[in-house]
Amino acid sequence: MFNFKHEWVETNIGLLLVLTMLAISIGGLVEIAPLFFIKDTVEKVDGVRPYTPLELRGRDIFQREGCYLCHSQMIRPFRDEALRYGHYSLAAESQYDHPFQWGSKRTGPDLARVGKKYSNEWHVAHLVSPRSMVPQSVMPNYPWLLSTELDISDITDRMKALRLVGVPYSLNQDEYDANVKKFGKETADMLNIADARKNLIAQAQQGNYDGDRSSISEMDALVAYLQVLGTMVDFRKYDDDEFVKYR
Ligand code: HEC
Repeated sequence: MFNFKHEWVETNIGLLLVLTMLAISIGGLVEIAPLFFIKDTVEKVDGVRPYTPLELRGRDIFQREGCYLCHSQMIRPFRDEALRYGHYSLAAESQYDHPFQWGSKRTGPDLARVGKKYSNEWHVAHLVSPRSMVPQSVMPNYPWLLSTELDISDITDRMKALRLVGVPYSLNQDEYDANVKKFGKETADMLNIADARKNLIAQAQQGNYDGDRSSISEMDALVAYLQVLGTMVDFRKYDDDEFVKYR
């Protein structure tokens, strides 16, 4: 009886398709749905904050240039990965990334913890001409980043859009106060949408990421972004964690 039914399913392509979908959906639901309800799917860790306006524009450029096609941003929890890149990535570290940049393709190294690994000068020289720093590199040149002025005209809209999907950029006093509580005053000021332009310009000029204070280039934004990657959590505080020793 059972065999007969099975043959019937296997020889009816439409029915097979429907039943396969059904089986996969149930499997998917069982695996995925609980993650939305378990409180510690994203463990809380100190230090993780949304990007500043300048870093955010840098991230936009990272996506525009397709850097993710060759670079992942997720260190897997394996010994070899931790030895090469540092502590494995935590879910909380990409909680404000929309869309996240985890990736699965690594023509170049993972960038999840590239922040502070090199100087700003190294990044600028490397992005303009990767082979000037790493002769065997197959990474393309991005010279226009240095000569293109950063467009900051729509920075507040970009932050408002991210606020809609849950990134705590503040639009009013209550939200600002909540940010002061959560991140401290200095960071809360940076996350205030009304001050975005002022903050962006100040950070670019203080940081002087591209080595030229006279204007703000796309390079300023991209390097500011690269330099913060993976640096928000201080893993030395979690000394019971065996992966800490690799960093
Ligand atoms: C065609 C693939 C490719 C693309 C696209 C690409 N890269 Fe790379 N990248 C590489 C390779 C390969 C390396 C390793 C050799 C080197 O350092 O140049 C690398 C290295 C790097 C490094 C140094 C990482 C380390 O830990 O040493 C950084 C930073 C970097 N890339 C940033 C970028 C950014 C930003 C972009 C986009 C503007 C980008 N890459 C686009 C292939 C790529």
